[in-house]
Amino acid sequence: MYQELKDNAELQFPTYVRHERVKTWVAEMVALCKPAAIHWCEGSEEEYDALNDKLVENGTFIRLNPELRPNSFLARSDPSDVARVEDRTYICSLNKNDAGPTNNWMNPKEMHDTLDGLFDGAMRGRTMYVIPFSMGPLGSHISYAGIEITDSAYVVVNMRLMTRMTKEVYDVLGENGDFVPCIHTVGMPLEPGQEDIPWPCNPDVKYIVHFPEERSIWSYGSGYGGNALLGKKCLALRIASVIGRDEGWLAEHMLILGVESPEGQKTYVAAAFPSACGKTNFAMLIPPEAMGDWKVTTIGDDIAWIKPGPDGRLYAINPEAGYFGVAPGTSYETNPNAMKSIQRDTIFTNVALTPEGDVWWEGMSDPPAKAIDWHGNEWTPDSDKPAAHPNARFTVHASLNPAIDPEWENPDGVPIKAIMFGGRRSTVVPLVYQPFNWTFGVYAGATMGSEMTAAAFGNIGKVRRDPLAMLPFIGYHMASYFNHWLNVGRQINDPPRIFNVNWFRKDENGKFIWPGFADNMRVLKWVVERANGQRSAVESPLGYMPRYEDLDWTGLDFSEEQFQELMAVDRDLWLQEILSHEELFIKLYDRLPNEFLAMRELLLSNLWRTGEHWDVGVGGYNS
Ligand code: OXD
Ligand code: MN
Repeated sequence: MYQELKDNAELQFPTYVRHERVKTWVAEMVALCKPAAIHWCEGSEEEYDALNDKLVENGTFIRLNPELRPNSFLARSDPSDVARVEDRTYICSLNKNDAGPTNNWMNPKEMHDTLDGLFDGAMRGRTMYVIPFSMGPLGSHISYAGIEITDSAYVVVNMRLMTRMTKEVYDVLGENGDFVPCIHTVGMPLEPGQEDIPWPCNPDVKYIVHFPEERSIWSYGSGYGGNALLGKKCLALRIASVIGRDEGWLAEHMLILGVESPEGQKTYVAAAFPSACGKTNFAMLIPPEAMGDWKVTTIGDDIAWIKPGPDGRLYAINPEAGYFGVAPGTSYETNPNAMKSIQRDTIFTNVALTPEGDVWWEGMSDPPAKAIDWHGNEWTPDSDKPAAHPNARFTVHASLNPAIDPEWENPDGVPIKAIMFGGRRSTVVPLVYQPFNWTFGVYAGATMGSEMTAAAFGNIGKVRRDPLAMLPFIGYHMASYFNHWLNVGRQINDPPRIFNVNWFRKDENGKFIWPGFADNMRVLKWVVERANGQRSAVESPLGYMPRYEDLDWTGLDFSEEQFQELMAVDRDLWLQEILSHEELFIKLYDRLPNEFLAMRELLLSNLWRTGEHWDVGVGGYNS
């Protein structure tokens, strides 16, 4: 339903909106933001097509060649608006200490005053869209509804791919169901007669704000990704982590995949890796053919909501309905399923345009002789800048993934047998180990780190601690979150087994030792068999480890010496590592679980007990 809002026109509500709080809130936001029109989104295909046409008309979208990439579009963002803005992201809890030392905080009253000022008239000259969406299958007891108000049609069409966006959400809400109000503006009102630009945003002022007690989200000034598609990082992680804390479940930055053995045994695994560590590739992995009839299927590539089930196991859903994947580096070699998913019905942002009207990015294939880069300028392989922005993205609905798991929309979720943690570490951390129990596993996840790769972060190569891959996404005090994890494990009788992996270890010449990608299946197979109690292991100072003969090497030429190099535990390096855990612990000291201090001591004594250099080929005993 569309209504112009000229001359104080009275706001009309669609008949299917029966929820008084929704109506009052939308009316308040109309009064504050002063849009020229309001569009109540219904989520239909006709609406999607019409909005895409409109985006093409005003220059935000370029329609790609329908023969090469049917029903697909390219958007180029403002060069200042290309990624999540962590330094402008706030958790405004009533009490500063509830946000904890890893989050930006401002007094909620002060923040509301600031936002009220910024949002006043922020949508002048623009249409306000009201987007009803469900994170998780509609009506599932694990799902949660949100309503996003935005003045960006780009956000609407992306939300339609990334969430269950449908007016049926109002039926689920009825007259007083819970929802998370999310308000977003690009922060660039149009004065009368002012022409719009393809990517409106506010280059100077950005705020991504969460009010955990109110369970509301306010986002100002950016049109990009997680800053603007508020169902994703803002709702499904930051606000949901708070809801999960209060209700006894987990909202995690995890992919979920299914592994089917040649005998037909199905095992579900969740895995947390920091941003830019290949989650989408792992979630869509195609096992090496030589390994036999193993199959991997995708439930999700970025976020998992995990709840204890009545049988004492943990069940997970993917609250999202699509992928917002990093394009550069994605190819038929690295991720064939992603490449097949994006053949049609895809929105690309900040990739290059080929003369044939198709897309290209670094790492996709041999470069085209010429292209138009993400700035809209001519580009050739001789250019000194990349054609696609390193954080260029594709947005596509999950149903187009050829490896989608048949259970991906099961409203009860899938039972999780194993949880994997893994950062990007060129030294120190072995290819794979299984911490001794849930508590050791949570410790391993909490102290996970990743070497920084993007120049934007500065300090390339320095380890950034990214506890449970949630550093930018936790909606409350990080150490309270560790306690919550420990509690969840205590309350279930069959917690998933926890594993730590590192695909990124390098040799002394700086070359990756592990081939990665499809060959990660060799590790995944061990993880799954171990979690199912079908594999023995060796006890190392860090946890249980596979011996060389425990991994399936069929079809891969990988020597036992190489494996030992990947798995070795060097005492001095680990002592350094543990010292740097201490840096994190001191920061979180007031709420740090006591267990962590005890575990650190145990790790130290294990390391001293086993000598300077622990080697899986020599040390340990079977268990
Ligand atoms: C993402 C991220 O975009 O983690 O998924 O940054
Ligand atoms: Mn992510």
